[in-house]
Amino acid sequence: MRKPVIAGNWKMYKSLGEAVETALALKPLVANANHCEVVIAPVFTAIKTVADRLEGSNIKVAGQDCSTEVEEGAHTGEVTASMLKDVGARYVIVGHSERRQIYCETDMSVSKKVKAALSDGLFVIMCVGESLEQREQGKAENVVAGQLNGGLNGLTAPDLDRIILAYEPVWAIGTGRTATPEQAQEMHAFIRRVFAERHSSGAADALRILYGGSVKPDNIAGLMSQPDIDGALVGGASLKADSFAQIVNYRS
Ligand code: 13P
Repeated sequence: MRKPVIAGNWKMYKSLGEAVETALALKPLVANANHCEVVIAPVFTAIKTVADRLEGSNIKVAGQDCSTEVEEGAHTGEVTASMLKDVGARYVIVGHSERRQIYCETDMSVSKKVKAALSDGLFVIMCVGESLEQREQGKAENVVAGQLNGGLNGLTAPDLDRIILAYEPVWAIGTGRTATPEQAQEMHAFIRRVFAERHSSGAADALRILYGGSVKPDNIAGLMSQPDIDGALVGGASLKADSFAQIVNYRS
């Protein structure tokens, strides 16, 4: 059985005070959610305080990105995976489409970040997903397979336990236009097949694949009813404790 992961990506939202307030409001609302791992990803400057305030709870903290570099050094503006771990993060999101599109992230840099994060013992949530144009041109599977092959390049069996994938079709992010459960399931099944071919069927069976893109309290149950959807990476609806808690508690 794969334990679902419900992760909230807070993107570049919330002051430190707001982040702490939201995290503390969330804590009691998801305290009984044993059916899934609950993760929130605040901005870098809030990770330490949020992680401290959530210590002992079932909510884990993620970074939204990390450096390709493993060692500290002269890299202005960068933060290593071990620095994230040092301040309480246990997960890191890598290769989000906003980083790929706005900050020229490539499969090569995603791959380096994945390896850096794994070497520091973090769980990695690696994002893949096609644009609307690519989907309309019938290239969605090719694009996603390329991102998987690029990002997972060089990983071996022990690393795979700490890899979580997130399928986030770019056309569904922040648009209110969710992929239907069937569309998402189709791509998730494809991702699992690609992973099985690259690695092993055992590793593919254990792999958690999250869906992201306009996940809301009213569509999470339909998405989670699909056999290959193992959780969600939530943007907008994770910013408010009550709507994120409703998503986490989709089963009750
Ligand atoms: P929305 O849930 O706001 O569409 O964002 C999805 C996302 O990008 C999560 O990483």
